[in-house]
Amino acid sequence: MSIKELQETIGKIAVPGKGILAADESVSTATKRLEAEGVKSTEESRRKYREMLFTTPHINDFLRGVILYEETLYQKTIKGEAFPDFLSKNGIVPGIKVDGGLIDLEGTESEKITKGIDGLGERLDVYKKAGARFAKWRAVYSISETTPSCLAIRSNAVLLARYASICQAHGIVPIVEPEVLLDGSHSMEECASVTEKVLHAVFREIYRHNVLPELIILKPSMVVPGKLSGEKYDSKSVARETLKVLLRSVPAAVPTINFLSGGQTPEQATESLNEMNSIKSRKPWNLSFSYARALQEPALGAWKGKDANVAAAQKAFYKRAELNSAASLGKYSRKMEGD
Ligand code: 13P
Repeated sequence: MSIKELQETIGKIAVPGKGILAADESVSTATKRLEAEGVKSTEESRRKYREMLFTTPHINDFLRGVILYEETLYQKTIKGEAFPDFLSKNGIVPGIKVDGGLIDLEGTESEKITKGIDGLGERLDVYKKAGARFAKWRAVYSISETTPSCLAIRSNAVLLARYASICQAHGIVPIVEPEVLLDGSHSMEECASVTEKVLHAVFREIYRHNVLPELIILKPSMVVPGKLSGEKYDSKSVARETLKVLLRSVPAAVPTINFLSGGQTPEQATESLNEMNSIKSRKPWNLSFSYARALQEPALGAWKGKDANVAAAQKAFYKRAELNSAASLGKYSRKMEGD
């Protein structure tokens, strides 16, 4: 393991006021999102969409990392420059989603486990040659009367830690992403309790696997009420409950926590991040964003696959990145949303 190399990557990403764009949707997820906006999903339309995002003027004022999907890692700008080279040149560290998606975890009630651990070290070496310096692995947990089971919590924690240890051994910074899903009618209190259990299990395995917590990025979900719970979303409570859970379960050695948005609206995701950074409480980590939908939705809606809309889409993307950057410093207000 080259600790220096890992420290260098973390140092570039964990900068106050800067965040990460998750643009690592698999082909099937990207297809769903593009088609919802009436855009046919092809290798070229996906390339064009990502190029629109990455080439947004001055976006590096707010972003220090972009997570790519394998297809995108090997794609190029229209001028023929590989995306990872283009991003690095602009001070943005390229990363790569390395998990292989979700499959059923047998022995549970349709809970999920993440695949892709076999051959991960070899794949990391190849991705590193292409420019990737950090990676991402997502595990999901659903809340119902009977889930998440101990088996799902334990098995996913082991895989997240195993993945993180392989990444560190190959000089790649791991983003560890345990996502407690928003779907369902659970209360905010239940979400808090599950998130705490999940994070405890993850860090227990991180420790057992000799992963250095100071050289990972944690990407958790926020503590929010289930989508069908009927509970009102209140960003102050989200921030308070999320911080409480994090303080109980995440070592102070972790340098940065970059949240996922998880189906919150772009405004909710920004507001809750801002509340967390505004609360006067002990916060040993940098608290920032690694959003996909909450950063991209307005831009994708403006783009609609048309070259004529690129400037408007980039403006929308720039604006969300700017607002989230402000939120990561506790300097956002609803007024800044403008029209
Ligand atoms: P969302 O911000 O849309 O939840 O996506 C983050 C992510 O990277 C999912 O793996």
